[in-house]
Amino acid sequence: MNSKCEAWLGKKLNELKGSEVYVAEKTNEEIAKQYGLKISDIVKLNYNENLYIPREKVAAMLKDVADEVDVRIYPQDEEFMLKEAIAEYLNVTADCVTLGNSSDEVMERTIRLFLGKGESAVTFTPTFSVFKCDVDYQGSEYVTVPLKDDFSIDMEGMLKTFTSTAKLMYLCSPNNPTASQLKPREIETLIEEFPGIVLVDEAYAEYADYSIVPLIKKYENLIVLRTFSKAFSLAGLRLGYALAGPGLTKALDRTPAPYVVNVVSLRMGRKMLENIEVMRESVKVLKAERRKLINQLNEIKGIEAFDSKANFVLFNTDKPSGEVYEAALKQGLVIKKLGKLLKYQNCLRTTVGLPKMNAKLLKALGEYMED
Ligand SMILES: Cc1ncc(COP(=O)(O)O)c(C=O)c1O
Repeated sequence: MNSKCEAWLGKKLNELKGSEVYVAEKTNEEIAKQYGLKISDIVKLNYNENLYIPREKVAAMLKDVADEVDVRIYPQDEEFMLKEAIAEYLNVTADCVTLGNSSDEVMERTIRLFLGKGESAVTFTPTFSVFKCDVDYQGSEYVTVPLKDDFSIDMEGMLKTFTSTAKLMYLCSPNNPTASQLKPREIETLIEEFPGIVLVDEAYAEYADYSIVPLIKKYENLIVLRTFSKAFSLAGLRLGYALAGPGLTKALDRTPAPYVVNVVSLRMGRKMLENIEVMRESVKVLKAERRKLINQLNEIKGIEAFDSKANFVLFNTDKPSGEVYEAALKQGLVIKKLGKLLKYQNCLRTTVGLPKMNAKLLKALGEYMED
């Protein structure tokens, strides 16, 4: 490397270190080592993955997919067929669907396309942290308005952020981590007033009461993000998509690199939609378990668990959240420590796990909180 290059590269690498990026939590291996546990004893309830479609079922589908696809060929036809299948699933047309290597990737693409330096992204807080990382990475301004204590939107506060530099608004609904869903009328008002693109993240829509996807037919500045990671149990395959009017979709779809999603993920997505009752049944069972989990958490002294429209539950404790988190971790239960959110001092979030996992968590929390 010549000296000019060395000086430039050193500076560049330092600059890149400055950007805030998503930091994954400890791996199972690290946790097992730290707490002297067996990896098989660790129960991961911190990433909102969906275990309600049995692993064997997904594996059997994947085996079929291995026979059906030809990985020697670029996946042009599969892209087309998955778009058609998604369009049918959500009652839109295929020219409204953009596929991505996870919904996070489509979110990042949206920010890269529509948010410049000197422009701002607006959202409420607390919300999904990856959005802030993307905005910071892009070098744009991140503006937030706290939700009200009942997790509804402060409409007046949001409208005040709609300055001439505001070009992207992010609304997560159902929202991670509050698990609450925004009212469609409020979303519409915000879309109508906002001077830029509105990105609604519906990663958990299948667990919710409604979806605002039909609104893409009405608003040309609306993009809705969806994923196969949650209700469809394909988090490991990284398959997501966006829905928007044909104009926006064309722009989102024009990636410089072709074929961002691999053929196995594309075909698995289509297979899940062909067997849609598998997802629907798993969502039904999870919702019943979610209700039970919320009720049982609320029976524990010092815990307040909130209603949920997603596959996770937010709760607040009257003991320090760091200590509650550690108490669970010592028993191999990994939940998400959030700390202070709005007026709630000690928040934690847990995925709705399988009944046995939830029972283990409830027992550990019960023992610790009532100690
Ligand atoms: C609100 C929200 N959006 C998106 C994602 C990630 O989706 P994907 O796996 O498609 O990137 C998550 C994952 O936790 C999430 O909570």
